[in-house]
Amino acid sequence: MKTLIKNGRVITAVDDYKADILIENGVVSCIGAKLDIEADTVLDATGKYVIPGGIDPHTHMELPFGGTQSSDDFRTGTIAAAHGGTTTIIDFAVQYKGQTLTEALDTWHSKAEGKTAIDYAFHLICTDLEDDRIPEMHKVMDEGVTSFKLFMAYPGVFLVDDATIYRAMTAAGERGGLICMHAENGVVINEIIKRALAAGRTAPKHHALTRPTLAEAEGVHRAIAIAEMAESPVYIVHLSCADALNQVREARDRGIYAFAETCPQYLFLSIDDYDEPGFNGAKYVMTPPLREKWNQQELWKGLRMDDLQVISTDHCPFCMKEQKELGLNDFTKIPNGAPGVEHRVPLIYNGGVVENRISLNRFVELTSTAAAKMFGLFPKKGTIAIGSDADIVIFDPEKEQTISAHTHHMNCDYSAYEGKTIKGVVETVLSRGEIVIQDGEFKGKAGNGQFQKRGTCVTF
Ligand code: URP
Ligand code: ZN
Ligand code: ZN
Repeated sequence: MKTLIKNGRVITAVDDYKADILIENGVVSCIGAKLDIEADTVLDATGKYVIPGGIDPHTHMELPFGGTQSSDDFRTGTIAAAHGGTTTIIDFAVQYKGQTLTEALDTWHSKAEGKTAIDYAFHLICTDLEDDRIPEMHKVMDEGVTSFKLFMAYPGVFLVDDATIYRAMTAAGERGGLICMHAENGVVINEIIKRALAAGRTAPKHHALTRPTLAEAEGVHRAIAIAEMAESPVYIVHLSCADALNQVREARDRGIYAFAETCPQYLFLSIDDYDEPGFNGAKYVMTPPLREKWNQQELWKGLRMDDLQVISTDHCPFCMKEQKELGLNDFTKIPNGAPGVEHRVPLIYNGGVVENRISLNRFVELTSTAAAKMFGLFPKKGTIAIGSDADIVIFDPEKEQTISAHTHHMNCDYSAYEGKTIKGVVETVLSRGEIVIQDGEFKGKAGNGQFQKRGTCVTF
């Protein structure tokens, strides 16, 4: 089976040239100025960008949370991802207290198997990591799960103490694994929340007002300090504000292996969105919360200067009806998270490239290549090169789209970007050479996505 993409402008994290691309057996087999080769399928990419499929290293499909579960499963969530030009997700399996790591992974494998429309991998959220579980960390790394998420937030649910963080970082670090940190001082936040509730402050906006940027910055500082003591790298997830970014910056300037991602919501939305009428602010109840608008330009600066290396979504959708509504009278009962997996690539193209904040190459790096390198998928994923998986997006840089819950494919009854018109549309998407999206239609098959055993980080 041969597919030929002709006349496109091929953009990777480092290249920008016009070429034809031949795909055979799911991988890129030849790239040339003019390929005069017979193929079963020929795709004309004249006037279009040909970019590596997006990699979203932070999603939560079917995540049990706050008495409900995130509303996309691995079928709906990965079809939506494909529509938006993402061809690989890394989702978070959860180890609950008392479970082995293998039990946790088995549960997530059974949620995903036979359902995913694009390739997928797992990080593992650990909540129970006494010394006797450490050998199992090494075992799951050998099985391709080479990164672990720990929480400094959500006491009584996910939070682990500093001893556990140190233990996990040492164990992961000695084998080239990576600890992903939800860095927020959840213990102090809980005290602030108690006072807010006692004073009758129950509206969605109080979710943001009870989670100060200092609580995030303190978490980031502590995570990096523990990583330094453990002589291991650390990756801060969903970094939302300048105070937290400054901690990463300071460490990186000292030569410490501290990495971080941010997400579109922190680049395009702000604390003002909680002021939407009635209960609508609940749409933006996510953790960390949206911040004052001035933080956005600091995050863009961080992305330009490589103090932030990756843009993920933290896709964790809950419908307003029956899910967010659980917190109608108490913001602490609103399930935390928002939909996002579908629009990351075009949102970053529009807000980054069209609005002159980052280069085209940096756009590709932030939405694909950097995550592939960070999480051990490169060069199979994250680039267009001979031998790489043919995860490829044909992207129309001129066409416009208006984002809306009426037209998106995520299983969620609202969009955080309702009515926003952006330039840049995903036209065609190939997953290992198979067309999964063509002219806005899903042509793939749920179940065709393959689990990716990841290697270790090649960022440093
Ligand atoms: O609000 C969020 N971020 N929900 C998902 C869980 C997490 O902390 O990533
Ligand atoms: Zn988190
Ligand atoms: Zn998350």
